[in-house]
Amino acid sequence: MEVEFVRNRFIKHFDGQTGNVYFSPGRINLIGEHTDYNGGFVFPGAVSQGVMAEVRPNGTNKVMAYSIDLKDRVEFDVDDPQGPKATWARFIYGMVKEFQLLGVDVKGFNIAFAGDVPLGAGMSSSAAMESCFGCALNDLFADNKISKWDIVLAGQATEHKYIGCNCGIMDQFASVFGEEGKLMRLDCNSREFEYFPFAPKGYKLVLLNSCVKHELAGSPYNDRRNSCERVVKAVQEKHPERSVKTLRDCTWQDLEEVKDIVSAEDMQRATFVLGEKDRVLGVCDALMAGDYEKVGELMYATHHGLSKDYEVSCEELDYLNDIAKECGVTGSRIMGGGFGGCTINLVKDSLYNDFVETAKQKFAAKYGHEPKVYDVVIGRGSHKVC
Ligand code: GLA
Repeated sequence: MEVEFVRNRFIKHFDGQTGNVYFSPGRINLIGEHTDYNGGFVFPGAVSQGVMAEVRPNGTNKVMAYSIDLKDRVEFDVDDPQGPKATWARFIYGMVKEFQLLGVDVKGFNIAFAGDVPLGAGMSSSAAMESCFGCALNDLFADNKISKWDIVLAGQATEHKYIGCNCGIMDQFASVFGEEGKLMRLDCNSREFEYFPFAPKGYKLVLLNSCVKHELAGSPYNDRRNSCERVVKAVQEKHPERSVKTLRDCTWQDLEEVKDIVSAEDMQRATFVLGEKDRVLGVCDALMAGDYEKVGELMYATHHGLSKDYEVSCEELDYLNDIAKECGVTGSRIMGGGFGGCTINLVKDSLYNDFVETAKQKFAAKYGHEPKVYDVVIGRGSHKVC
């Protein structure tokens, strides 16, 4: 995304002056889905697409915000207890409120922003906004004293309190901590993480967007989380002597013990989560051994679990996964929250063209439009551009 694109509009829609420009990316996730809010592991990386904002304090208590993509303008007071109605502006409002809770004296500012993370594609356009606004607020009003983790948590709290999605921390983490060419394995329980350089020789990562738009706020996403929490509660009741906080602390034996207490559906969800925890660790071992065939096998297993046990797939995503299999693609699965969006595919260079062309043709023949194709470039996390 070009600075000039945002800057021209910032100048045009405000008082002709320029401000500082900040960028934060969306993310991919190689494996570890719906594990973050269960205290498990995730394996994300930042992408090159993201959100860019130009921001300038305006000497008042008003935030004057312009969404370049939606051509919409919203104003609100930094002390407004309700906040704006427009969802896009609530991301700014939420970050302002969370920074205030962190003790930052946020003053009024002008902001114009645009993004090129496809919306509803499971690539975390929301987290890109949150971390971009967080990066700006930190620089302009807090002397950059707010830690990266606090920005991550402010983004997550914005989702919970102002958007209505009880998400985990993967997306905001990836957007803030991402580094070029590196994936990260995050332990969502301890918040320890490691960078993994990711440049598999002879393979590419490509996303195919089904263009089925997912909307996680107020969606079955929160129901999935509730299912997991009910199973945890049942295990806690069976084992008051242990400290069981999330499914991370539960064993297969624990699930077996509560299978008659919780619903079959909740059990199915928890089964997926425990399996996924093992798969992420399996992928780490396979990556270290350079065994991409194993990585791919685990990706297919994740897709199967997300589709059949966690039930967050849709017909279009399952079809893209089937096409990948038929084409001999190494690994393929739904990426992100699910209910639409993209598949992530690990494909041999030699098969890439054939796969992408076949997927476009077959998908278009069935659904009337081609999937959108994004080659993954693992990019840099939140930063000030100028
Ligand atoms: C969404 C949420 C994340 C995570 C994924 C599923 O992207 O925002 O916290 O739960 O879904 O892995």
